[in-house]
Amino acid sequence: MIIAIDGPAAAGKGTLARRLAAHLGYAYLDTGLLYRATGWKVLESGADPENPAAAETAARALDPSDLDNPSLRDDGAAQAASKVSAIPAVRAALLDFQRAFARRPPGGAPGAVLDGRDIGTVVCPDAPIKIFLTADTDARAERRLKELRDRGIDAIPARVLQDMKERDGRDMSRANAPLKPASDAFLLDTTDKDADAAFAAALAHIRHDQPTG
Ligand code: DC
Repeated sequence: MIIAIDGPAAAGKGTLARRLAAHLGYAYLDTGLLYRATGWKVLESGADPENPAAAETAARALDPSDLDNPSLRDDGAAQAASKVSAIPAVRAALLDFQRAFARRPPGGAPGAVLDGRDIGTVVCPDAPIKIFLTADTDARAERRLKELRDRGIDAIPARVLQDMKERDGRDMSRANAPLKPASDAFLLDTTDKDADAAFAAALAHIRHDQPTG
């Protein structure tokens, strides 16, 4: 069983995906972390995240321990992630790992929840459950700001909004695996929903489509 969750930045994908995985006893993969770790590695090497050769080398050299770096949550890593993710060779290098995780979830879990931008369209197009999370840009920027402030980072609201728009624009307009809902995705707008309401709506959808869920 595979649950694919896609959507733009700060739509609530991670919170929902983690909660669904815990509730259902499934394994969870935050695929954004793979791109963030790749972007981080490129920055660390002093190269430009838009340099295809440097980005591909970083993606191929990725080690599971690279994913534990707390700095991957920062906006610098997010922007670098968005840049390396537009490079086809990077996406190709990360595809097999994501598909293997979905098909054979670690720990013998009976299913997997993956969140990202292209899970329902490219990574797992046959996933029986696909959820595309959306929310107004202002609501998402507000959430992102709160998240940063909760982590003690004094972010500037206008800058957070601008970074988010820039990243969404790049993620939606790239030629390779752009951010878009799969034609068979369940669209869930979380603008007026808190995490509990979004979880309840997603679970109701899963139970409706897969009564054993
Ligand atoms: O979900 P996130 O904010 O951690 O993702 C960071 C960036 O990685 C995002 O701006 C685009 C890229 N990404 C992607 O292209 N495909 C995915 N499946 C996940 C993330």
